[in-house]
Amino acid sequence: MKVFAGNSNRLLAEAICNYLNLPLGRATVRRFADQEIFVEIQENVRGEDVFLVQSTSFPTNDHLMELLIMIDAMRRSSARRITAVLPYFGYARQDRKPGPRTPISAKLVANLITEAGADRVLTLDLHAGQIQGFFDIPTDNLYSVPILTRDIKEHYELENVMVVSPDVGGVVRARALAKRLDCQLAIVDKRRERAGESEVMNVIGDVTGKDCLLIDDIVDSGGTLCNAAEALLKNGATSVTAYITHGVLSGGAVARVTSSKLKELVITDSIQPTTAVQSAHNIRVISTANLIGEAINRTSQEESVSSLFD
Ligand code: R5P
Repeated sequence: MKVFAGNSNRLLAEAICNYLNLPLGRATVRRFADQEIFVEIQENVRGEDVFLVQSTSFPTNDHLMELLIMIDAMRRSSARRITAVLPYFGYARQDRKPGPRTPISAKLVANLITEAGADRVLTLDLHAGQIQGFFDIPTDNLYSVPILTRDIKEHYELENVMVVSPDVGGVVRARALAKRLDCQLAIVDKRRERAGESEVMNVIGDVTGKDCLLIDDIVDSGGTLCNAAEALLKNGATSVTAYITHGVLSGGAVARVTSSKLKELVITDSIQPTTAVQSAHNIRVISTANLIGEAINRTSQEESVSSLFD
């Protein structure tokens, strides 16, 4: 087995290699003067079981293209099997036609990864589980729930905790966590009037005196989260913390979170944290390296991956 990484999340790739007790494979991903991407694999991969770690996070298109070119380079170097490891799968939110004459970009990206030559995909907390079906190659969707559960148990008295979904679409995810923690569940009924804006309408459930834990897969602008936090506090919650897998945190999101009433935003390292994220007083990053490392190990040994979540 060999593990390689593009430029999107080398810190995570190194931590995964640390878990696996392997050196990170030697490869360079460079730019020509006109910004074309050039990849060079600097060690033999003939006959190897290769894992390529690359989140398709900002700059999404560059990181996606890096991944596709790395897959191509591995295929032409006679790797035995190539697994694209996407701790964060960008474009996942475009998983259906929101209106007439619009694309399903998540499917297009799945096709690109497959056509480039990937044999398998390993990813984490897909925006919607059914995106696995967009790939015609085996796809494992890992869940961050065990990592989040452990962290919550270390930081909270569970008797006073209420798990909250920040919108109706996230109820299944939040319910799974509430079940593991044996806590109650509340829902923020959000109405989004315009793309990029969010508006909180109603809190379903009694959150008075509760430590609310907002659960979501993505924090992008931070609008959904900060509006939900305000609604919960208005409804009598004692504190609001958010546990969110993918810290996309575009534009002014970090400033929005730091100036919000959120006690803490806990994200994973599926997207490499920027320096702004690292220095934010109320953002904490927890690692997925051991989970992804173990999934890579089991894939390579042809062992069960789903049993990681039993
Ligand atoms: C939406 O369906 C997702 O689960 C997130 O709630 C959304 O992407 C968050 O976006 P933002 O932080 O921009 O409100």
